[in-house]
Parts: sequence; C-alpha cells; structure tokens
Amino acid sequence: MYRSKEVRIGVVGATGAVGEVLLRLLEERDFPVSELRPLASGRSAGSTVPFRGEAIEVGVARPESFEGLDVVFFAATGELSLELAPEVARRGGIAIDKSNTWRMDGSVPLVVPEVNPEAVDQHSGIIACPNCTTIGCVMALEPIRRAAGLKSAVVTTLQAVSGAGRDGLEELQAQQVALANGEQSEPDLFAAPIANNVIPLCESFRDDGYSTEEVKLLFETRKIMRLPDLDVAMTCVRVPVPVGHSIAMLIETERPLDPAKARAALSAFPGVEVIDDPARAHFPTPADVEGRDAVLVGRVRRDLGSDRLWLWSVSDNLRKGAATNAVQVAELLIERGHIG
Ligand SMILES: NC(=O)c1ccc[n+]([C@@H]2O[C@H](COP(=O)([O-])OP(=O)(O)OC[C@H]3O[C@@H](n4cnc5c(N)ncnc54)[C@H](OP(=O)(O)O)[C@@H]3O)[C@@H](O)[C@H]2O)c1
Repeated sequence: MYRSKEVRIGVVGATGAVGEVLLRLLEERDFPVSELRPLASGRSAGSTVPFRGEAIEVGVARPESFEGLDVVFFAATGELSLELAPEVARRGGIAIDKSNTWRMDGSVPLVVPEVNPEAVDQHSGIIACPNCTTIGCVMALEPIRRAAGLKSAVVTTLQAVSGAGRDGLEELQAQQVALANGEQSEPDLFAAPIANNVIPLCESFRDDGYSTEEVKLLFETRKIMRLPDLDVAMTCVRVPVPVGHSIAMLIETERPLDPAKARAALSAFPGVEVIDDPARAHFPTPADVEGRDAVLVGRVRRDLGSDRLWLWSVSDNLRKGAATNAVQVAELLIERGHIG
C-alpha cells in the first residue's frame, strides 16, 4: 500500500487523549514512520511516550520543532493550531489538524477519506479533520445520499465525556467515585454533574440558543458533503459514557428508500458496519465500538408518519472520530502522491 519512502512525523498533543491513540494507530496500521517527534506543552516536556517498544522523549511544540518533518498531526488546542500549523506548511510539511480552527477556512480541505478523498488534492499545507460527531454523522449519511439523495436530517447526539479530552474523562471518574462514597462534587468542565446524568449542552451556548458543537455539526456536514443548503437540525447531548458517540438520525431522502436497501447501502460503504436485528435485540452501543475504527449502524426503520428513515450510529470518538481519520488522511496523502 505504501511507497518505499518513509515519513517523518510530528505529533503535537502526543500526551493527550487523541494523541495517545494516534501514536498507537501509527504502530497498528504499520504507518511508515522514519522519525517520530512527540510534542506537547512545557508541562509534559521531558516525559516519554511509548512507540514501537521505545520510550520517546516529548519535546515542546515550537516552530523550529517542525524542521524536516513531512507530516505533523495537531491534537492539542485550537489556538496552538492557529499559531503553529502555518509554520509546518512554511517549512514544506503538511499539517493534519484535529481542532476546530481551520475546518471552515475556504482554502483548507475538510476530509473524511471514505466520503471526500479527492479534497486532499486541494491542500496548501494544512488539512482539517472534522469534529468527532460530524465524522460519525457523515459516515452514515453518505451511503444513504448515494442510494437515494439527501434532503434533510434531524440529528440528536449522545456524546461521550472523552470528547472533551483527558479532563472530561477525569471529571466523570471523580464524580462517580464521589457518588459511590455518598459525597457531592461540583462540576468543573461540564455545565452540570455528568455522573448519573445527561447534559443537553456540549461546549458552550451561542447567543441564538444553539451550542457551538451543534453549529459545527451543521456547517462541517455541508462542507464535507458539498451540500451547502442541506437542512440539518441538531441537538448535542453529553452522556456519562467514557468513549463512543451515539447519534439518532431522522433522514429525509430525495427518493423513498426501503430500510432493507438502506441497510445494504450502509453495509457496502467502507468503514461502516450494520448491526441491526430487532428480533434478537441486536444493535450497536458505545461499548461495542470502543477501540474499533468502524462506524456501527443499526435501528434502521421507516418513520411511522412519513417516508423518512430513522437510524442509529455509534463511533469511537477517539479513533474514527479523531485519530483514525487523521492517520487515514496521511495514508491518503501517500496514496495520492503528496508525500514521497
Ligand atoms: N477527544 C476527542 O474525542 C476529540 C475528537 C476530535 C477532535 N478532538 C480535538 O483534538 C484535540 C486534542 O483533544 P484531546 O481530547 O486529545 O485533548 P486533551 O486530552 O486535553 O490533550 C491535549 C493535548 O494538547 C497538549 N497541549 C495543550 N496545550 C498545549 C500548548 N500550549 N502547547 C503544546 N501542547 C499543548 C497537551 O499537552 P500537555 O500534556 O503538555 O498538557 C495534550 O497533549 C482538540 O483540538 C480537540 O478539539 C478531540
């Protein structure tokens, strides 16, 4: 699959929730890494991360850190991507960014390799990966679109705490321990207690009453699918699940699509697996998808009052929602001759 050329890689945010998975994936997928530079802030500088049986020292992410690198993954903060991704491009490398910073920039491709691989050809040194929720959403919508066209979707997400990084996971764990000990604990990162609760807010509210996460889902979906007028109505909810975002979708197609044909279209799409057998209560859950790259889809059924289709999808937000998609973009760059 790969050319003979080995690739010099940087990972900014190598000590974070996404960065840790990304390093593991580079190993698992046998990505041709000739040099690895794990980078983070001064807080983690000097610590080590494991890679191919070695402990590799973490450096501080600075413009000079990118000299000689072919690809730099950014899995840190949006501010850092804004400041440093152009420094990678200036040095002749390609930045693959996981943050929100570049996604809606008209000159930056926003790529899900199974959906719009050709978009990478338009890069000018920076490629954006979508939000973890958007990826699970478009991976289910695209096969339906190809089978029957797409008019609109009503989307409700149930998002894991690790979508908010290491701090999100730690907040859930600390609150679960406190509850087990009969103690109260104040929310910090999330807007309300997350243990034994659900919170109809991911990130923060805008003046129009939508959350920033909801609006990302709308505009990123339109950009990736090249459907600038697609009607997507969305509610994003945080749930006390460690890993795995779930999405319930009500989809209006241009032509009626029988649930059996929808299942067939979804099954045939790369990266999607259908688990859907109501008679045996078979459906996908976040626990099924944790540690996997596939987006799992089930509960495909016709709406009782219309021709619309319901479906349920789950994806590992740290893998396909983040690290896997980023590594796939790098693989695509090799396949399409942008590296090597
Ligand atoms: N979690 C998800 O499901 C998910 C999904 C899609 C996209 N993303 C995006 O991926 C990025 C990383 O998310 P995460 O969940 O992995 O966050 P995280 O667990 O909080 O990790 C953040 C990482 O960024 C580093 N960092 C923070 N500030 C830095 C600075 N000023 N200079 C250098 N490094 C710095 C941290 O290094 P230290 O160890 O030095 O603090 C750490 O390695 C974010 O942009 C997020 O929006 C996350």
